[in-house]
Amino acid sequence: MIDLDNITRSVKKAGENITKRIVVCAGTGCVAGGSIKVFESFIIVAKELGISVCVELKGGNIGTLLSKSGCQGFCQKGPLVNILPAEILYINVKVDDVKEILEKSIKNNSLIDRLCYSDNGKVCKGQNEIPFYKKQHRVVIKQCGVMDPENIEEYISIGGYRAAEKACAEMTDKEICDVVLAAGLRGRGGGGFPVGKKWNLARNQTASKKYIICNGDEGDPGAFMDRSVMEGNPHGIIEGLVIAAKATGADEGYVYVRTEYALAVKRMKKAVKDASDIKVLGKNIFGSGHNFTLHVMEGAGAFVCGEEIALIASVEGKRGMPLPKPPFPAQSGLWGKPTTINNVETLATIPMIINYGADVFRETGTVSSHGTKTFALTGHVLNTGLIEVPLGSTLRQIIFDISGGVTDGKGSVKDGNFKAVQIGGPSGGCLTEEHLDLSLDFDSLKKVGAMVGSGGLVVMNKSICMVNIAKFFMQFTQNESCGKCVLCREGIKQMLLMLSDITEGKADEDTISLLEELARAVQIGSLCGLGKTAPNPVLSTLKYFRNEYDAHVKEKRCPAGECKSLINYEITDKCIGCTVCAVKCPAKAISGERRQKHKIAIVKCVKCDICIKSCKFNAIEIV
Ligand SMILES: Cc1cc2nc3c(=O)[nH]c(=O)nc-3n(C[C@H](O)[C@H](O)[C@H](O)COP(=O)(O)O)c2cc1C
Ligand code: SF4
Ligand code: SF4
Ligand code: FES
Repeated sequence: MIDLDNITRSVKKAGENITKRIVVCAGTGCVAGGSIKVFESFIIVAKELGISVCVELKGGNIGTLLSKSGCQGFCQKGPLVNILPAEILYINVKVDDVKEILEKSIKNNSLIDRLCYSDNGKVCKGQNEIPFYKKQHRVVIKQCGVMDPENIEEYISIGGYRAAEKACAEMTDKEICDVVLAAGLRGRGGGGFPVGKKWNLARNQTASKKYIICNGDEGDPGAFMDRSVMEGNPHGIIEGLVIAAKATGADEGYVYVRTEYALAVKRMKKAVKDASDIKVLGKNIFGSGHNFTLHVMEGAGAFVCGEEIALIASVEGKRGMPLPKPPFPAQSGLWGKPTTINNVETLATIPMIINYGADVFRETGTVSSHGTKTFALTGHVLNTGLIEVPLGSTLRQIIFDISGGVTDGKGSVKDGNFKAVQIGGPSGGCLTEEHLDLSLDFDSLKKVGAMVGSGGLVVMNKSICMVNIAKFFMQFTQNESCGKCVLCREGIKQMLLMLSDITEGKADEDTISLLEELARAVQIGSLCGLGKTAPNPVLSTLKYFRNEYDAHVKEKRCPAGECKSLINYEITDKCIGCTVCAVKCPAKAISGERRQKHKIAIVKCVKCDICIKSCKFNAIEIV
């Protein structure tokens, strides 16, 4: 039987003579930025400099350990290199920086200011000083930037699989469900359904075979939270699955990973293999008599396959399409057997509830939404990336304290530039300045017509047209509708056509009321969550930005200057006749003599914005 203490002791022993650690981020973002080359370069250059650097925790190794991590959250500044125990975080690291890091920070313990994050000129040494990290509360993704996700022994050495051992060997299925219920954990996959209730429903089914599925489909545009957890802490998810399987009586499970997530697929597969090899998965886990086999399956590449019944169909090898509920998957799921489906982040939260208890978990969050939530923060903000905050945090804290404020078109922070934030992906809604101090939790967001959803947060400055944003999400849901329900299939298409008419100046006031009426019908008449929530972006923009819709239809004007059919370009008196715009214009729409004010032939202009961007004198305006 596996002995976790023994593994922990041998990892600690092997690390006795390791004094420092270099952690190179190997999440998707940093890998794309060249972090693997940086990693390899550390090995080569350390050898050249005679610095002892090893890549494995093996007895006899001394000096510095070099390892990879999953996404550390600050992808925008990647590749990231973390140096421990000094807690130095270097950003935008290139192969050329490796020698200096080894010489200064590893050999001589000194800091290289130019590689540190600068907060208004103040050099920040590491995560403890960088506002982006300092103001977060990282629990689920805490280990993502430190631990080697491909090393099961390291996971065990920092307390991993203790909760699984406790749940399997010391707790009954009812006791596990009771703790999770008492913790008040709500599913992080969008709906916020109480996890303990779902598990109890599955537990109470009398069936000789039950399944558990981890939903790692994550098809929402802009979301990458689940991907980061799968890449950075795959064993945390497996541990959650082992506990869930014991609690519900399942002996077989699947991790359904979006097929585009190549690195997450690879890491999950390796983690499942390693866990099976050391018998954390398989037969008689921790001597408890509990058996659990786990498979990793690549998704079918459709957003609707994230919906639980469509996902089950997909695992069965059928086309992913939802069915009416009940029966719920917990009653009749995969191959007709009781099946529990949980989100990646939900499962990764389970071990800490078992380890520390329900009360500790309830200390963070709000009265009805406990714990923390990860968000993928993108758009017009200074610092984008993956964050984790207590539920109940406000948009103001996230946008201004953590992310550093709203930026203009050139990426500089500008006061008074905030317009809206889209929360929860295609199922969510757009919120405004009046919601900046709203508590971000499951219930408060629902009340204002939005959703935590999977946790996408897209911040928009004043240059964004809200009708266009609603159109973007409608385009996405229209493409992704499985086509089963008339209202989802045809209704969303008609809504999209109406939005196109509005943005092209072809609509009248009746179009807006018809759009609203149809949105309500799609909400009520669709079978699954895709159709039911698809109107949210439209309804929330209609509610909070009605004046923009009115301007498009009544005045044939786009207040944000974004809808191409409703805008023109004009060269103002600021023009000094430098000719740059005329040279750059791909449509040859600009003419004029050198040192004379230029002119745009509107009939030829394709509204590509190239002239505006190229004029150094800000002489071209949208009218
Ligand atoms: C169209 C659609 C897509 C969904 N995509 C996901 C997804 O990618 N990941 C996820 O965990 N849940 C997704 N869900 C929610 C799941 O159906 C399900 O509620 C969830 O996985 C349950 O896990 P939880 O209780 O831990 O939140 C989606 C739902 C709908 C309607
Ligand atoms: S609501 Fe849309 S996606 Fe869902 S079952 Fe109906 S047609 Fe398919
Ligand atoms: S780039 Fe600006 S200043 Fe130069 S010709 Fe065009 S409008 Fe005038
Ligand atoms: S991938 Fe490196 S910080 Fe996200």
